[in-house]
Amino acid sequence: MAAWFRPSRPNRPLVLALALAVLPLAGWAAARHLDGASRDRALAATVPQEVRAGYATSARCEACHPAQYASWHRGYHRTMTQYATPAAVRGDFADVTLRDGDSAVHLSRRGDDFFAEMVDPMWQYQVDIGQRTPAPGEAAPRALRRISMVTGSHHMQAYWVPGNEGNNQLSLPFTYLFDDRRWVPRGQVFLHPPEQDHYDEQVWNVSCLRCHTTAGQPLALLPGGGWKIESVLGENGIACEACHGPAEAHIAANQNPLRRYWLHLRGAGDPTIVNPARIAPARGAEVCGQCHSLTDVSADIELGAGKTYVPGAELERTQPLLRPLHPTPALERYAAEDPL
Ligand code: HEC
Ligand code: HEC
Ligand code: HEC
Ligand code: HEC
Repeated sequence: MAAWFRPSRPNRPLVLALALAVLPLAGWAAARHLDGASRDRALAATVPQEVRAGYATSARCEACHPAQYASWHRGYHRTMTQYATPAAVRGDFADVTLRDGDSAVHLSRRGDDFFAEMVDPMWQYQVDIGQRTPAPGEAAPRALRRISMVTGSHHMQAYWVPGNEGNNQLSLPFTYLFDDRRWVPRGQVFLHPPEQDHYDEQVWNVSCLRCHTTAGQPLALLPGGGWKIESVLGENGIACEACHGPAEAHIAANQNPLRRYWLHLRGAGDPTIVNPARIAPARGAEVCGQCHSLTDVSADIELGAGKTYVPGAELERTQPLLRPLHPTPALERYAAEDPL
């Protein structure tokens, strides 16, 4: 599975941005079990929200397309990325201590909240990417963080905690395997070069969001230069609009019942939305290929406004495929930058 993502080469501007960030949201009291509403607000302040303009979200499609909604609801695309609610979290958080070498993580649950007591994830991130060198004898600072988001619902689940710089999300160093019912160090389930000990140095917003959400935008770059991660999403997980494109205009057009009956009787589809079955076959396959293939990822896709590809467009205009047998300039550039 790990072949899907490019090993993260330290990204210098991003590293600098993360290093310079003066951790805001200091008042966020992770240890307290908060009441429902204030808990939701506190969590919302630390995670990317589903607010991207033009995107309606799946909840709005159900009334008119109940069968397609039900079929999508049964699959794993929907639950690829979720906020860390009791319904989403599958790992064992019953006062578990996990160790990997010298480092230990203690997992616990209070009410509806899941916690990790761990090495301060931002400190660890900076050490992993070589941005910070601990002084001799310096102990790693520890922090109690609430689990904010989860990745996966099929074979395994990875977890995220707020980095507390904008809404960036840093990884928990352990992943839960469903079949084995156990935690494993993350580096043992995500493929990485053998001489690299850690594969932990990941910022969800710039590494995973582009294939694990619907129309996510990293938004790590500020317009006038400078950095702050303020990612937004069409929707968590891979929802209708990942494959059909933004649907706000389609819903608005179909508020008129006469139009609905006319289109339905005519049976020739609706030009306000993309149906992969009605476009050229290659274009249809590219709807899936935007995530199920290795493509070139520009700095803007990784850090800026995200993908500009929308279903129906020609994928390789914005994301050329990295084909080992037919090397493109993009592949040659990647290979030159990182021969591993
Ligand atoms: C290029 C697109 C892409 C990127 C980027 C990407 N993934 Fe994935 N990921 C996928 C696809 C596609 C699958 C499904 C693979 C399969 O089923 O064979 C997947 C599967 C997974 C799974 C298994 C889920 C389950 O339910 O069992 C996990 C965990 C995962 N990815 C984590 C990550 C993390 C963490 C990142 C960021 C560091 C990331 N992925 C980045 C496309 C991507
Ligand atoms: C992973 C991609 C993907 C997702 C997610 C997805 N669809 Fe589709 N959808 C397709 C494809 C591909 C087709 C064409 C099916 C075919 O070839 O027969 C389709 C067809 C349709 C059609 C045309 C009628 C039909 O059934 O063929 C409707 C309506 C539709 N989808 C609605 C939805 C809604 C609503 C959601 C979310 C609740 C959704 N889709 C989620 C890929 C997707
Ligand atoms: C107010 C009703 C309404 C809502 C809400 C709605 N649709 Fe539709 N949709 C229609 C009608 C009407 C058609 C065309 C008639 C038909 O195919 O039955 C249609 C057709 C489609 C098609 C097939 C288009 C084609 O050319 O084959 C897709 C795909 C689709 N809708 C996706 C969505 C998605 C995704 C959402 C939610 C984001 C959504 N729709 C919300 C009414 C609606
Ligand atoms: C926005 C990114 C994205 C798009 C678009 C996308 N996928 Fe996926 N797909 C994923 C990820 C991530 C997973 C891993 C989910 C899991 O298994 O937990 C996945 C898993 C799957 C799986 C295995 C799990 C399952 O639900 O059965 C299949 C099959 C699949 N995708 C087919 C498709 C097809 C076909 C299309 C196009 C019609 C498509 N995908 C479009 C990202 C995407």
